[in-house]
Amino acid sequence: MAVIATISSSPNRTSKTDAVLTDIARQLQRAGHVVVPVVLRDLPAEPLLRGNAHDPDIARAVAALEAADAVVVSTPVYKAAYGGLLKTFLDLLPQFALRGKVVLPVATGGTPAHVLVVDYALRPVLASLAPSSITPGWFVLADHVTLVEGGEVLIDEVAHRPLREVTAVFLDTVAGRSLVAAGAEPREAVA
Ligand SMILES: Cc1cc2nc3c(=O)[nH]c(=O)nc-3n(C[C@H](O)[C@H](O)[C@H](O)COP(=O)(O)O)c2cc1C
Repeated sequence: MAVIATISSSPNRTSKTDAVLTDIARQLQRAGHVVVPVVLRDLPAEPLLRGNAHDPDIARAVAALEAADAVVVSTPVYKAAYGGLLKTFLDLLPQFALRGKVVLPVATGGTPAHVLVVDYALRPVLASLAPSSITPGWFVLADHVTLVEGGEVLIDEVAHRPLREVTAVFLDTVAGRSLVAAGAEPREAVA
């Protein structure tokens, strides 16, 4: 069992990015892991903007990240990049805050023209925080996520299938990391 933090970074309470993240979190829980949500819009704005990592709420969020074995980082695409709320949080983390952790990056956006935000914008900034690995991420087109009244979420199969796949690769990598951490022999490769 691993502890996996999920970073939610849309400023919107009704969020397609959160809907995708919740779907991933369910897959992680079904695999037997503990999911710890870190919801950035619930952090106090002024300390966040001032980069005050001593604020108690922010310190708790940073500690939750530190305590995790792995992290799912989600963001809406804004202005052809990851969101500003995520950046304010990443900016106040210690330089190697993701050391030893496995990271899964996920974004939602309005146009397929910006699918590369995951790999050209988000991945490099996450890499600077020294994770042990960043597994393949995914960009979900907002049109493929429907928020139904009452809280139900529908994700088109065209988006859901690759999301399941990148989550499975992430889970395999987390399992491999746990084996190494426990000093176990790695699994034999299957030819
Ligand atoms: C201010 C703003 C800027 C946006 N810029 C982009 C953009 O450059 N590229 C893109 O693909 N989508 C863009 N979008 C669309 C959002 O990425 C998309 O609607 C996303 O799913 C919103 O996520 P949320 O529901 O979690 O907030 C933008 C939306 C807003 C509100």
